[in-house]
Amino acid sequence: MNPASLIPLAEPVPIHWAWFDILLIVTLTAHLLFMNALLGSAVIGLTKSLRGQGVIIKEVGMKLPPLLALTINMGVAPLLFLQVNYGHFDYVSSVIMGGWWLAVIAALMFSYYGFYIYKFKYESMSNAVRTALFAASILGLLYVGWMFSNNMTIMLQPETWLKYFNTDGAFLNWSDPVIYPRFLHFMTGALAIGGLFVALLGQIRTNDDMIDTGMLWFTRATLVNLAVGIWFLAALPQDILLAFMGRNIPATGTLIASLIAAAFMLIAGFKKEPKKATIWAIITVFFMVCTRHWLRTLYIAPWFSIESTPVTGRYGSFYLFLGFLIVGLAAMAYMIKLYFNSRQGRS
Ligand code: HEM
Repeated sequence: MNPASLIPLAEPVPIHWAWFDILLIVTLTAHLLFMNALLGSAVIGLTKSLRGQGVIIKEVGMKLPPLLALTINMGVAPLLFLQVNYGHFDYVSSVIMGGWWLAVIAALMFSYYGFYIYKFKYESMSNAVRTALFAASILGLLYVGWMFSNNMTIMLQPETWLKYFNTDGAFLNWSDPVIYPRFLHFMTGALAIGGLFVALLGQIRTNDDMIDTGMLWFTRATLVNLAVGIWFLAALPQDILLAFMGRNIPATGTLIASLIAAAFMLIAGFKKEPKKATIWAIITVFFMVCTRHWLRTLYIAPWFSIESTPVTGRYGSFYLFLGFLIVGLAAMAYMIKLYFNSRQGRS
């Protein structure tokens, strides 16, 4: 069977497809930054707690429920934009993953409740019970991340979809050598940004130990991630690897831009300047997301080109969307201001 026959037709989009790609990249950057702060700081807190130092786990534990809520909210937006431009790939991979994919919702709810109970029942639980609950909640997050990596890689390779007919249905991408460095790259990045989050929290609490610990994780995880990134690049199919080595100028350009930003980020990290490092981290993650976008374009090039998507040119709903976006952002800024002025926000 020709895998191309399994790819549904691309639906027409009302406005130029580039708008959806831009919105996808911007919102995914926000999603990954929140996910990193959440997962990375939780792992750092747990590691320290297992070594008998319980300050960081308690401090970050109080921030995890809102961080998880923000991660989910910031995930919905790219999911919608992804479905607009690449839904005919992403829907298929979601269906192929079946129960594995649907279980993401259960895993998310499990972790959410786990972190909530940790925060609100902290005093009434024994250290062993709350540490176990915290660790189990982290496992839930790892499951979700692994499922996203599976979905995002299965969607890129229609040739693997044929396996669906030879196995008992739902399958994961275990046989893809690229998925391992790819997932590890995201997780190591989470440890780095999680470290930065701990350091920033330490600055607010004027706790030097938190700043030192956070910045140490930030710089070490980033150095490790440079090696993981090289493994990721080397594991890619050869034509895609060559595209990032100069054959495709925009793809190479975004990779170089992200590496330069990462260098500035590391310098700020070694100088122990959490705020400066945060600005460079946002820029680095943004360029990495652009690089990842090129990776998707190159992977699906044999099957689909976004330029072929029919555009109807009906901009009415887009203007409505922009209007609501501006009003929504203003309302959010106002609510955040109110929160930080409140007693809970100041503590
Ligand atoms: C809270 C736990 C979560 C974790 C740890 C997590 C982690 C990740 C990771 C690691 C990726 C990159 C996967 C890859 O490209 O290999 C990713 C991408 C993505 N995540 Fe999340 N995620 C979480 C929750 C969510 C939720 C709840 C949503 C949506 C409601 C979401 C939406 C997305 C989307 C749409 C992408 C890919 C966008 C694209 O390919 O352009 N995530 N996430």
